[in-house]
Amino acid sequence: MANQNLNAAKNAKKDEFYTQLVDIENELKHYKAHFKGKTVLCNCDDPRISNFFHYFSYNFEQLGLEKLITTCYKNQNRDLFSQNDSERAIWLEYFGDKNNNRVPDPEEIGIHYLNGDGDFRSQECIELLKEADIVVTNPPFSLFREYVAQLMKYEKKFVIIGSHNAIHYSDIFPLIKNDLIWLGYNTNQTMTFAMPNNYIGEVKEIRYGDKIEKRKIGKVPGITWFTNLDIAKRHEELILYRKYTEKEYPKYENFDAINVNTIQDIPLDYYGIIGVPDTFVDVYNPEQFELIGVGSGSMAASIGVKKNYRGRTDIALCINGVNKCPYSRILIRRRQQRTGDVVETCHGASLRTNQSKPYPQSAPALPMAAEPDAEYGVKK
Ligand SMILES: C[S@@+](CC[C@H](N)C(=O)[O-])C[C@H]1O[C@@H](n2cnc3c(N)ncnc32)[C@H](O)[C@@H]1O
Repeated sequence: MANQNLNAAKNAKKDEFYTQLVDIENELKHYKAHFKGKTVLCNCDDPRISNFFHYFSYNFEQLGLEKLITTCYKNQNRDLFSQNDSERAIWLEYFGDKNNNRVPDPEEIGIHYLNGDGDFRSQECIELLKEADIVVTNPPFSLFREYVAQLMKYEKKFVIIGSHNAIHYSDIFPLIKNDLIWLGYNTNQTMTFAMPNNYIGEVKEIRYGDKIEKRKIGKVPGITWFTNLDIAKRHEELILYRKYTEKEYPKYENFDAINVNTIQDIPLDYYGIIGVPDTFVDVYNPEQFELIGVGSGSMAASIGVKKNYRGRTDIALCINGVNKCPYSRILIRRRQQRTGDVVETCHGASLRTNQSKPYPQSAPALPMAAEPDAEYGVKK
């Protein structure tokens, strides 16, 4: 049912999924330090119904914002929400609380009309984008690629919502691989959105700021936050325990890489290419691993994945004469061991190294010899 909802929405290019305040709070609490002294733009947001506008206007002082700009796309369907009856697209600017009541009063918000319909690609919206330091919103799903391309073109920092599938898009994966964008904290989740009134679904009470309103709601699976702001999560190292054996880690038949079925099973002592489930992107730390490519399609062909037993470019395994294609793999390689890596000593004990070695730009073909740690009384 949830998948059907997403597909129907995509096909009809109905992009009216309204983000709940609680989901915005749960993600943005990790980025607070980034907002100090910054101009934030929410450019797919009708301020009358957008919880992004609500979050930033009510937290303006707490975050130490310089300015908040919100642009509203003229809604073609005026029946979406009862209060959304605007004929023209508008944009707002807010410089914070002036009368010390800690609330964004209407007289404190500058309301301006746009000439066009508020399309984020229009020149007048691009001029507002140029003013922004950080863009934060849930953009239309159907225009996600174009939306990200524009942010990259104007070199903007951002925190945005998209479909988890986007990691496989030919114009998004290279950005992740080249460490230009990464996943936020809340990833690949089924999120509940407020939906248009004409949507067939349950009605629930949803918090909009300090008001509780009855809204149609829809659950959409595979929702992920994307960002290019530095967050602690992407520096967290995955602790690896398993050792490589040929038997446990079979190689693909059409690409020189081993297959690993769960992220916890990535071997600590294998430095060749490894195929892992795409959920790996969620724990990807570019200091520990490099992303090599995806396991299927034209991007896979570009890194040398050959056609498989079905004649498709999709990495495949042949185990005991049975062929199969593991689902949705991406290909990674571990960077060279460094301080803190667990390594095997000549006595078979596992220790952490304490020698500081910078990661190389690309990992060596073979594992480094383990450096026993003198502190633990093991002779070099
Ligand atoms: C997924 S909804 C999210 C709305 C709001 N950002 C939120 O999170 O509650 C995407 C919004 O983008 C608007 N939109 C669609 N096409 C647009 C465009 N070309 N430029 C700007 N906004 C657009 C839609 O009307 C819709 O309100």
